[in-house]
Amino acid sequence: MIVFDKLVSLCKRRGFIFSGSSIYGGLANSFDYGFLGVELKNNIKQAWWKKFVQTRDDMIGIDAAIFMNPKVWEASGHLQNFTDPLADCKKCHERFRQDLVPIEHSTTCGGELTDVRNFNLMFKTTLGPVEGEGSVVYLRPELAQAMFVDFKELYETYRLSVPFGVAQIGKAFRNEITTGNFIFRTREFDLAEFEYFVEPDKWEHWFNYWLKEMEDWIAELGIKKDETYLHEIPDGDRAHYSKRTIDIEYQYPFGMKELYGLACRSDFDLKNHEKYSGKDLKYKNLSTGANFLPYVIEPTFGIDRSVFAVLASAYSEEEAPTTEEGESDTRVVLKIPKHLAPIKVAILPLSKKQPLIDSAKDIASELRKHFTVLYDETQSIGRRYRRQDEIGTPYCITIDFETSNDGCITVRDRDTMRQERKNITELKDYLQYLLNQA
Ligand code: GAP
Repeated sequence: MIVFDKLVSLCKRRGFIFSGSSIYGGLANSFDYGFLGVELKNNIKQAWWKKFVQTRDDMIGIDAAIFMNPKVWEASGHLQNFTDPLADCKKCHERFRQDLVPIEHSTTCGGELTDVRNFNLMFKTTLGPVEGEGSVVYLRPELAQAMFVDFKELYETYRLSVPFGVAQIGKAFRNEITTGNFIFRTREFDLAEFEYFVEPDKWEHWFNYWLKEMEDWIAELGIKKDETYLHEIPDGDRAHYSKRTIDIEYQYPFGMKELYGLACRSDFDLKNHEKYSGKDLKYKNLSTGANFLPYVIEPTFGIDRSVFAVLASAYSEEEAPTTEEGESDTRVVLKIPKHLAPIKVAILPLSKKQPLIDSAKDIASELRKHFTVLYDETQSIGRRYRRQDEIGTPYCITIDFETSNDGCITVRDRDTMRQERKNITELKDYLQYLLNQA
């Protein structure tokens, strides 16, 4: 089995991510995140928010409504330009993005394709009980527009001076023609992005600055530089609003594809919102007399693609000592960076007998106040270690028959498999120290 299949199967088996609505036969390309998946995803979102918002003095965050006045999408150019070229197969009636007609289709079906037409990717729905033109709204295909529409209100309220950024994390929706490759391209996904407003003649400086910051972030996800590629998008291929775009691509198990994007949107969006709303959106600084439409640098991060890339980079198979049951000598380990790991500590009593169980449960409930903890007393210790390795738990704590005499437990490290004996009284601080070190 190739790594891609193994990873998808692990995600399903261990409850990270699985197909949604499965009791009804599923729904094409909809995925549900289970407990381990949502912990991982939330840890990524929190780390992102901390790095790009909370630890900076030039960034604020917002959480805007998904539905916006439809004029927003007219002004932004999405109604006209947010399209993919679509062609239908005249024989099997399947729909393809013109640039992505799969080889299997050309060889197996061989049907002729219709002329290409542009298909708008925005989901359309109606607000309230009355259907009609006046009630049409769209599910946002990107988060950025709220940052432009709220620009003036935000910089005035928070007395912000250019350069500054506005960040947001939330759901985005696109009626993709071709989905697939697990959570790589879905019709609803989590996005994290910010709009960084700068003086127009400084945009190149800030573009390079944010590229470097994005690369630092990628390293924090445990992704190696040689797993990524910077793809400069040529003229004619860029989104309608972009003056310059670099896609940061990642070597997914199915090929090198986009992970994140960095774009210079110039004053395209603010200028159009001025035009369509009739409101003055210029940035004014009373102390310097500045009065202009800023340029915008936009780093954008797909959160589901981040989850995918973290899992794929972390997945490893290693030679390992055979278990007591004489089982396979390969251990699967998710070497997820420790600060992102869904479960930080597993509590494993060596036997189901007393006083081990009570003592193990007490330790678990004490540590649960500080870390995500999983308690497991079933099957052999070898199997339990393997189960924790497979979900990326950095530390396993074993409680043995000596524990009640010497007050000590054993801490086992996921990556080195080294074991250390520690006193229960110093356990919490020790784990905190180890997790902070990572
Ligand atoms: N505001 C800019 C913007 O939306 P984009 O390149 O169209 O730019 C941003 O999308 C990011 O969203 C991409 O870099 C990718 O990580 C993620 N993304 C885009 N379409 C996606 C889809 N259908 N499923 C999952 N993630 C997607």
